[in-house]
Amino acid sequence: MSKLRQGHSPVVIPSSLKVKGGGLYFLAEEVPLLAKNIMFLNVIHWTTLCYLAVAAVVGGAVLLIVALRLYVCYTLGVCKSKNKMDGKTVIITGCTSGIGKETARNLAKRGAKLIMACRNLDLANKFKDELTKETGNANIHVRKLDLSSLQSVREFARQINQEESRLDVLIHNAGTAEFLKKKVTEDGLEMTMATNQFGPFLLTHLLIDLLKRSKPSRIVVVASELYRLASLNLDNPNPTTTFPGYLYYVSKYANVVFTLELARRLEGTGVTANCLHPGMIDSEIWRNVHAPFSWPLKLIVKLFFKTPEQGAQTSIHLAVSDELNGVSGKYFMDCAERGLSRGIQDTATGKKYWEICENIVKLQPSDPKI
Ligand SMILES: NC(=O)c1ccc[n+]([C@@H]2O[C@H](COP(=O)([O-])OP(=O)(O)OC[C@H]3O[C@@H](n4cnc5c(N)ncnc54)[C@H](OP(=O)(O)O)[C@@H]3O)[C@@H](O)[C@H]2O)c1
Repeated sequence: MSKLRQGHSPVVIPSSLKVKGGGLYFLAEEVPLLAKNIMFLNVIHWTTLCYLAVAAVVGGAVLLIVALRLYVCYTLGVCKSKNKMDGKTVIITGCTSGIGKETARNLAKRGAKLIMACRNLDLANKFKDELTKETGNANIHVRKLDLSSLQSVREFARQINQEESRLDVLIHNAGTAEFLKKKVTEDGLEMTMATNQFGPFLLTHLLIDLLKRSKPSRIVVVASELYRLASLNLDNPNPTTTFPGYLYYVSKYANVVFTLELARRLEGTGVTANCLHPGMIDSEIWRNVHAPFSWPLKLIVKLFFKTPEQGAQTSIHLAVSDELNGVSGKYFMDCAERGLSRGIQDTATGKKYWEICENIVKLQPSDPKI
């Protein structure tokens, strides 16, 4: 009884409870409790205990999921503006699926002349027919645009400048995310950066005069909060050998830097530029993540992510709301302005990256300068 606690009376340990080598001792007042526990274990079988433990874990998980879903609903930003868009022309890139599709649906309902800038014309035309039927808006047009091709961007812009007399809102929505596959475009550019950053950069230049003529007009850039996981390497702006999955974050970082510098350069022109994070959305953007990585991802996406309609709210807000009149160079999430990390707001980096992008997209002396 060398381990007896001071001030307590010793008890004899039942032989069934003695531990080999000694060391397990109980205090007198602990004995009734012990006896009760032994009786409990005798009554409740071990398998029942296992079931109870599993039930507790499953119950906890369900509660956690419900709590997280409630959090998503509670923090959801919804565009409250009832503004109509009759007489206004909107270009939205990549609206054959996900957030772009729902943004297009909403703006079509508001009466905008909608130009769907898409690379998959079959899908786009099918959706256009659906939209026309659903909204009664006959002013919806499909134009071919592959943002990963500088030539396609130029051809699209040439057509728009030729056909359109105004452009009120340009929404840079299209985006791609490669996971493992390194891809280089026909222009020698890394695919994710070309689609998400360089294509939109060139397109903005080529449409800027039309936007200025239509002032007040807006440029909306769909970036992502995931920019926080990346940084820009100005010594390697076309990172063809970098892990593609990481480049999605880099491209979104570039989108924010681009928007801030664009807003600075457009000051006083009547054209505003803002960017946003749509939330984490159950869309097609995850399509390039393959098994086995896709299995847990799919589960998380289905359980916790927002719908594309919910994801479109901030894009719609930035495109139509009166409270955005004159607001430029800001970052939004859930239809509210949010702060950005300090590094991404560095004006010297923004200016330098702008000049790098001008070279990458081979901006010509005859092209509009911003
Ligand atoms: N989903 C999210 O959780 C999330 C989070 C933050 C930011 N975002 C951003 O939200 C935007 C919309 O993404 P989403 O989630 O709605 O994804 P999505 O469902 O995959 O839609 C992407 C759209 O972009 C188009 N696109 C892709 N590459 C293109 C190219 N080279 N040229 C023209 N169009 C192209 C796609 O057209 P095809 O049908 O031809 O492929 C599709 O219409 C993206 O900028 C994305 O980075 C998404």
